[in-house]
Amino acid sequence: MLKKKYWQVLSQKQDELRQKISQDPWRLTYHLMPETGWMNDPNGLCQLNGTVHFYHQYVPQEASGGEAPHWGHKTSTDFVSFKEEPIFLSPEHDYDRDGVYSGSAFVENGQIHFFYTGNVKHPGDHEYIYSGREQNTVHVVSNDGFSVIKQEVVIPHEAYPEGFTDHIRDPKVFKRGDTYYMILGARTVENEGKILIYESADLSQWCYRGIFFGEDYDLGYMWECPDYFQIDGQDVLMFSPQGIPNKPNAFQNRFHSGYVFGSVNWETLTFQESSPFRELDHGFDFYAPQTFSDEQRRRLLWGWMGLGDTLPEYSNPTVARGWQHAATLPRELLIRHNKLVQLPISELQGLRGTHQHKQVQASDGMIEWTVPDRCYEMIIEVEQGDPCWQIALLEDTTLSYDGQVFTMSHGISGFGRKHRRVQIDDLTQIRLFVDTSSIELFLNEGIACMTARVYPRKPKDMIITGIDQCQITYWPLAKKDC
Ligand code: FRU
Repeated sequence: MLKKKYWQVLSQKQDELRQKISQDPWRLTYHLMPETGWMNDPNGLCQLNGTVHFYHQYVPQEASGGEAPHWGHKTSTDFVSFKEEPIFLSPEHDYDRDGVYSGSAFVENGQIHFFYTGNVKHPGDHEYIYSGREQNTVHVVSNDGFSVIKQEVVIPHEAYPEGFTDHIRDPKVFKRGDTYYMILGARTVENEGKILIYESADLSQWCYRGIFFGEDYDLGYMWECPDYFQIDGQDVLMFSPQGIPNKPNAFQNRFHSGYVFGSVNWETLTFQESSPFRELDHGFDFYAPQTFSDEQRRRLLWGWMGLGDTLPEYSNPTVARGWQHAATLPRELLIRHNKLVQLPISELQGLRGTHQHKQVQASDGMIEWTVPDRCYEMIIEVEQGDPCWQIALLEDTTLSYDGQVFTMSHGISGFGRKHRRVQIDDLTQIRLFVDTSSIELFLNEGIACMTARVYPRKPKDMIITGIDQCQITYWPLAKKDC
C-alpha cells in the first residue's frame, strides 16, 4: 500500500506541472496524452459494454519519467472524446513496487482480466539485466475497468525458464478453444530476443510451453510488447525488438516495432513466419503498439507516440512544460497487398470541421497555400507532376519523394529529429494529421505510416513543388469534449 504521503507529494507535483502545462501551445488537442508528467506504452486496451478503456504507462508526477510507472486510464464511448479517469493501478505491492509495467486486457463473461508485469529492482550493485530485477506476471480482475476485485501474481519471477535474463515482460493473453495462452517478450542470457508462451485452463495456473517465436530468428537483443492476432484468417505476430542495426531507408530509430505474418502450429505452440519482419511506422516517434478487437470486431491499434530514446537529439521541449509523449491516433489494421495497412479509424471523421476542396494546377510547378489551422487533416492526391516532388509545411518540415523513397525532414522545429525515410512505389496519396506538435502520415491508403513529434513556433505557408496537378481535401480538426 502506498503511504498517504506518497499521494500528497504526487498531487503537489501534479499541481506544479499543471501550471506549466496551461501555458503550453504545443499541448495536443485530439491525441491522448498524459494529464501531467510522462506517458509511455498503451496498456490493457479493451471495450466493455460500449466503453473503450485506454490504459497507459504513466508517471504523473515527473515529465521525464524516471519513477515507477502507474497505469493511467482514459475512457470513451465514441473513440473521439475521452474522459480522464483516476489512476487504475499503482506500484504499491512488493511484487510491483518499481513499476506497474506494460500488459494487456482480455474480456470474458462481462469481466476484464488484465495481465501486467510487476517490476522490482533489488538494492545492490546490479546492472538490472542479468541480476537484480524481478518481473512478475500479475493477474487483475475487474467487473467494470475501474475497480479491482482480484489482483495476484500468477507467474513469479523465479518460475521463468532457465537461460533468460531478468527481462521477461509485457504479457498478452488470448484464447483458442477452451485454452488460454499468454505470450511474453524476453531476452536470453546470450542477448537474443524471444517470445515465450504459457498455457492455462483457468487464467490463474499457467504452465510454460516453450519458445513461441525466435528459436531460429535473429533480430536484436530483446523483444518487448508481443501481440498475436488474426486478420481475415491470417496469423500476425507483432513485437518491438531492440538492437536492430540502422539501415539507410529502414530501421532508422533506436528501437523498432513491427510484425511478421505466419502460422501457429497449435501442437508445438510455435509460430512459423512466412514474411519478413516489417516495420509498422517509419517516423521518429512510434513504439510499443498494442492491438485489441473492439465490439465491432475490428482490429485496432494504438502506439506510443514517443520512444525511450536517450540520444541527445531526441529531446522533447514539452518536458520543461510539464509533460512528455502521447499516443498515436487509433488505427484500424487491415490486410491489403499481402501487407498490414493502418488507417485512422472512421470515428475520427467526427473531429472534422468544414471541409475545403482544392483542385490545384500549377503552371510553373509550384503551389502555395496558407493553411488556416494548427490542427487539421489533409489528403493530397497527386495526379500529375514530376516523379520527384516536395511539400514544405509547418515551420521547416519537408515531405519529399524521389520516385522511390519518401523522406520526412525537420529543421529546428524537429528539436533534433532530422530525417526519416521509407521506400514506397508509386506514391500518389498522402493523408496527414497535424495536431499542434505532432504529424502522422498515412501513405497510399496506409501502406506505410510515419509518425513524429515536431514543434513549430511559427507555421509558414505550405509550398508544393514538382506536382503540376493534385487534389487537396482539407478539414480543420477540433477536439470534442465529453
Ligand atoms: C516498452 C517498455 C515495456 C515495459 C514498459 C515500462 O516501452 O519498456 O517493455 O513494460 O515500457 O514502462
